[in-house]
Amino acid sequence: MDKAQRRLIFALDVDSFEEARGWVDRLDGQVGAFKVGKQLFTRCGPDVVRMIRDRGADVFLDLKYHDIPNTVAMAGIEALRLGVWMFNVHALGGPEMMARLVAEVDKVCPRGTPGRPLLIAVTILTSSTDDTLRAIGIDRPVGEMVPRLARLAQQAGMDGVVASPQEVGLIRQACGPDFAIVTPGVRPADAALDDQKRVMTPGEALRAGADYLVIGRPISAAADPAAAAAGIVAEMRAALPG
Ligand code: C5P
Repeated sequence: MDKAQRRLIFALDVDSFEEARGWVDRLDGQVGAFKVGKQLFTRCGPDVVRMIRDRGADVFLDLKYHDIPNTVAMAGIEALRLGVWMFNVHALGGPEMMARLVAEVDKVCPRGTPGRPLLIAVTILTSSTDDTLRAIGIDRPVGEMVPRLARLAQQAGMDGVVASPQEVGLIRQACGPDFAIVTPGVRPADAALDDQKRVMTPGEALRAGADYLVIGRPISAAADPAAAAAGIVAEMRAALPG
């Protein structure tokens, strides 16, 4: 697998074990990882993660933990034991929650050792607007909260954040080059937008500073999904230096 393929994460947005297995068999070796979210995990549980791991592929466990520090840290340890490559929490859980998670993961699997998952924070969900924040008592705009929460995550020792393509520049500026940015909302120029509103192409997202792209329907809804994935990877490869 080359460095462009490693940066592509396929969103396994399906609701059965068999469908998930079918996608992993079809795309294994072509994408860097498979994202398991709340729907598939709630339906199939850790077995679906084990199935993907057994085929030698990596898993991004997208469960967005947000709870008291001890609970999030212990859930994180279970994610680590399951062998996931990346998982995430809500930065809105606060610095203590993130720092505790990092500390507990460090005890079991110190940074730099094999099997250490990437610990990723969600800043503000892209479904939230300034009005959503005001309704819950946050008077600062989304554009201010996103880099603020990204910096908090970085200071707590997290490895990166999930962000919309439009936010990538702001986060790079706030957090520097050594902080992973995972970006959904990516569409090849000829693909349907589906329900995504503000999108970038794979090349644009990488050039803006994204490290990993999460892409689902442009691959899963294509007549030839493997060819669609290969086309996306080719575009990514062209956008990556050297
Ligand atoms: O099919 P599509 O490429 O739109 O899938 C994108 C994936 O990324 C989905 O699993 C979606 O839930 C997730 N996601 C997103 N926008 C966010 C956060 C996550 O599309 N802001």
